[in-house]
Amino acid sequence: MPLPVPLPVDLSGIRLDPAQGLARQLYRALRERILDGRLGGGTRLPASRDLARLLGISRNTVIRAFDQLYAEGYVEGRVGAGTYVAELAASARAAPLPAARPAASVALQRLQQHHLAEPLQGAPRAFRVGVPAFDLFPFETWARLSARFWRKPSPARLGYGDPAGDAQLRELIAAYLRNSRGLHCDPAQILVTCGAQQAISLCAQLLVEPGERVAIENPGYRAAAHAFAVAGAQLAGIPVDGEGLDTAALEAAGDCRLAYVTPSHQYPSGGTLSLARRLQLLDWAERHDAWIVEDDYDGEYRYSGTPLTPLAALDRQGRVLYVGTFGKIAFPALRLGYLVLPPALVEAFARRRALDMRHAEIGSQAVMAEFIAAGHFQRHIRRMRGAARSRRDALLAGWPQQVPGCAPLPIVEAGLHLCVRVDSLARERQLIALAAKVGVELNALSGYWLANSSEPVDRRAGLVLGFAAVPEAQIGAALQALRQAWAIPG
Ligand SMILES: Cc1ncc(COP(=O)(O)O)c(C=O)c1O
Repeated sequence: MPLPVPLPVDLSGIRLDPAQGLARQLYRALRERILDGRLGGGTRLPASRDLARLLGISRNTVIRAFDQLYAEGYVEGRVGAGTYVAELAASARAAPLPAARPAASVALQRLQQHHLAEPLQGAPRAFRVGVPAFDLFPFETWARLSARFWRKPSPARLGYGDPAGDAQLRELIAAYLRNSRGLHCDPAQILVTCGAQQAISLCAQLLVEPGERVAIENPGYRAAAHAFAVAGAQLAGIPVDGEGLDTAALEAAGDCRLAYVTPSHQYPSGGTLSLARRLQLLDWAERHDAWIVEDDYDGEYRYSGTPLTPLAALDRQGRVLYVGTFGKIAFPALRLGYLVLPPALVEAFARRRALDMRHAEIGSQAVMAEFIAAGHFQRHIRRMRGAARSRRDALLAGWPQQVPGCAPLPIVEAGLHLCVRVDSLARERQLIALAAKVGVELNALSGYWLANSSEPVDRRAGLVLGFAAVPEAQIGAALQALRQAWAIPG
């Protein structure tokens, strides 16, 4: 919402997002201008009524923002004479905002360069990526199991527990992986984590020395790349194609300590690593004395056949660390995942985790164990797979036939998202911006590439669409809105 007419003081550049708290935004914008000197001591602020009219917001909102500034001493009120910027001590003015302060250490500098984007807030919309159909989660059942656990918890489970996780849950995860993936492991190899991200981050902390090279799929899962970079790794982007990671390019990349891969369903482009490449990758790890982190983040979602046998099940050398998550079957905020470790790494990982946080909170581990033991988990996987399939179908059937500059949608055999190429970065941005105007979320494929990629920028362009987050009717409405936004007939 730009200012329509000039004000007696310069408040240009104030933009208020109607979807966020308006008083807070206005307070912040005014405070920033007071602190950086744009609004000097003694400046009279516009009357609340005038400012409200000019910003197109209610007078109460302006008054709330002024009240906050007043309470914190940034402005002074003179009864009947308006609101004035207070004379701040020079130290307050000179103090840079925390974000601008130089990083104090190498680790902090790395964090400035490698951090996650702010998560999208609020209820999911079409076509949010990374979110399953959690509207279908059986919360009644979860609440019942949870109440049962907390009503009379066994005292043995209430003290400090095993840093590797709850024993019952680890046994059930091992049995689940044996039955569903053909991955035979001992429960002692399982480490329960707070989601896949923590599992990846632990691998980064424990397996990579600062300066060592880590091979990362490019385009790929940026949150994994950040975790390795923050641990001091030099990232080596390896191209992917329809068969996943290009193993010949990995060979050509020279020595790497570790390769991070998504073999079942390359994130985000969607390929599946062929058996030949799986074997080449394992062979590469053995010859280079390297580790493989296999992220099977959405392996439950295959729409023809059964989930694929993981690399970890083919590993005879103890080089693969398998990462799984409950976030894509239950809901991401549960923050529950696991690592299957080669036996030689189990103790070190458990020790490190104990230093980080002792262990994951017992409630969700115990309830998940009951949820699996009573058969709800398997039932829910079937339901989620069915829902994701029919939401995928709604997207494929309703997507406009001809979107200029955009390739046809691919065949989607797995996962919760699809990826479609666009012929230039400018067109990618345009399609996304027009979609955003009508409330439809599309992700830019260009955002999944490493910053130093050699790929020409226009070849990085595309759209990534999550299709599972909302029901079919909302998908249909979003597609209709897109057609209008993109001026496509039909
Ligand atoms: C490739 C990949 N790995 C891991 C994750 C994160 O999983 P979690 O929420 O369990 O940390 C995601 C989330 O979208 C993902 O896309």
